[in-house]
Amino acid sequence: MESSRIKSVAIIGAGAAGAAVAAAFAAEDCFDKIRVFERRETAGGTWIHDPDPTPLLVPQPGALPTKIDPPLEAPRDLPTTAPPSSQERYEKTPIYEDLTSNVPSIAMSFSDARFAYGPFVPHWVVKQYIENYFSTHRLDSLLVLSTTVEDVTKLPSTPTGLDRWSLTLRRYDPVAHVDVWWKEDYDAVIFANGHYSVPYVPKVDGLEQYIQKFPGRVIHSKSYRSAFNFKDKRVLVIGNSASGHDITTALAKTATRPVYQSRRSASRWDGDKPPPGIEWKPIVKKYLPDGNIVFDDDSVLSDIDTVIYSTGYKASFPFWNSHTNGGPIWDYRQNRLIGNYLHIFLRDFPTLGVVGIPRTLTFRSFEYQAIALARVFSGRNAIPLPSKEEQEKWEEDRWKLVSRERRKFHDIPWDNDETVAYLDELFHLAGLPLLSGSGRYPPILDERTRWAIEHVKKYPEPDHDEDQEEENHRWTMVDPTSYKDSLHFI
Ligand SMILES: Cc1cc2nc3c(=O)[nH]c(=O)nc-3n(C[C@H](O)[C@H](O)[C@H](O)COP(=O)(O)OP(=O)(O)OC[C@H]3O[C@@H](n4cnc5c(N)ncnc54)[C@H](O)[C@@H]3O)c2cc1C
Ligand SMILES: NC(=O)c1ccc[n+]([C@@H]2O[C@H](COP(=O)([O-])OP(=O)(O)OC[C@H]3O[C@@H](n4cnc5c(N)ncnc54)[C@H](OP(=O)(O)O)[C@@H]3O)[C@@H](O)[C@H]2O)c1
Repeated sequence: MESSRIKSVAIIGAGAAGAAVAAAFAAEDCFDKIRVFERRETAGGTWIHDPDPTPLLVPQPGALPTKIDPPLEAPRDLPTTAPPSSQERYEKTPIYEDLTSNVPSIAMSFSDARFAYGPFVPHWVVKQYIENYFSTHRLDSLLVLSTTVEDVTKLPSTPTGLDRWSLTLRRYDPVAHVDVWWKEDYDAVIFANGHYSVPYVPKVDGLEQYIQKFPGRVIHSKSYRSAFNFKDKRVLVIGNSASGHDITTALAKTATRPVYQSRRSASRWDGDKPPPGIEWKPIVKKYLPDGNIVFDDDSVLSDIDTVIYSTGYKASFPFWNSHTNGGPIWDYRQNRLIGNYLHIFLRDFPTLGVVGIPRTLTFRSFEYQAIALARVFSGRNAIPLPSKEEQEKWEEDRWKLVSRERRKFHDIPWDNDETVAYLDELFHLAGLPLLSGSGRYPPILDERTRWAIEHVKKYPEPDHDEDQEEENHRWTMVDPTSYKDSLHFI
């Protein structure tokens, strides 16, 4: 791609991924216009704390973002103003009061700025860090806050053959109490919109009726803010990843004991028996009309006051106009970006990029992804992208590999060295900046950082030699084939 072709770049989202992208693109010093559109009132993304989670989201078992987070219809002729939309957009974050980071600062933060302290910090330190990152790197002038990208539509190709993009934007005007709608066109767009905003609750026999019959009894962890709200309540937590673990542990101090935790598989931090005040259950088999909850081992719980589904999130791209752009961008059956290369490039859309999708180191990996994208989009990459056919083969091969190993397409584990190989690939793809100083160096991943990832643990782990692991799996009666990477909680 020649540098002269892409002049304007729109970035969707001002979380950590958006910050990394803004820094990388600005550093290339060859784009005339860079804008970071953020629907919230400030940068920070996931790390913004919304003490009030209302309106409470009523769980919709099995429902995907395509159903519960549909596109918002724009007025016909833009620019214009319209009555404010009341459609749920899942803008609030899941941050709870006592949440702290779970990856040591040396490995989680960007390579050019450490958190205020470490290794693990409260959520407000991370939020301040992201806000400061924008200002200390003089990227804050690129921010267009309180502005939602409602539609991204491909325009007819330019004479150079590259796709351009039309963005439909909406900003609530709090003085006039109207939504202001307008359009802007860009040569390239980078999605840094995160994927932990639309909660997912699995389909379970009788759950839908249970939710209707007992309003407010079932919530998603996205709405959880403090264990204090569950004082003396009988609580069942579903899920055993970071949210399920944190919430169950906190509830064991305030709720009626035992707090029940339903696990589908064991985590690395699980020993052979639950911690005091917690009772493990297998997955739920069915919810009965009388309020009883039946588990896979046919045990039954009665009189549960609250069920907290800590079953994660689904990526959502309501702004992607699948109608005009020739199809969807995300495959919900396979949980992956359609037509991607290295989790960031899109084969059929060379002027589109995505940062923040792979489940691996967060901020630090966003940096590699962003620098690689910026270098390719600036036309200065030392290593050109492979042909479309080779990119397609990469995607097919990865799909075969993860299917064989029963993994998820975008999960990049640490223990099998896949993370290091991935970062190394992006490191080489990005190549060096210019001698004049334009562009960023991809960061190194030195011994100290790797050591910290492997040895500085927020969640203490019991002994993990293989015999012990097998023993644990026999004891816990959960899916014994589910191997957990040492960074599986990220
Ligand atoms: C509860 C919780 C705790 C976590 N703890 C850790 C941790 O300890 N360590 C760790 O490494 N990771 C953690 N993570 C993962 C976390 O998501 C990443 O650390 C990181 O913040 C993701 O950054 P992001 O920029 O990709 O996404 P986000 O932080 O979600 O940012 C995306 C931004 O895009 C904006 N946006 C979305 N759509 C639009 C639109 N259409 N128009 C305009 N703006 C839009 C959003 O408002 C948001 O600000 C946690 C996640 C959660 C949910
Ligand atoms: N900093 C922190 O301390 C902190 C706290 C909370 C969250 N987070 C972050 O937030 C993000 C989301 O984490 P999360 O814990 O909310 O979600 P998650 O990591 O996606 O975990 C979802 C959990 O739900 C279980 N699950 C999914 N579908 C299920 C089903 N049909 N039946 C039973 N169980 C099911 C999963 O079981 P399996 O494991 O068997 O798949 C898993 O335990 C992650 O990035 C995480 O790191 C961080």
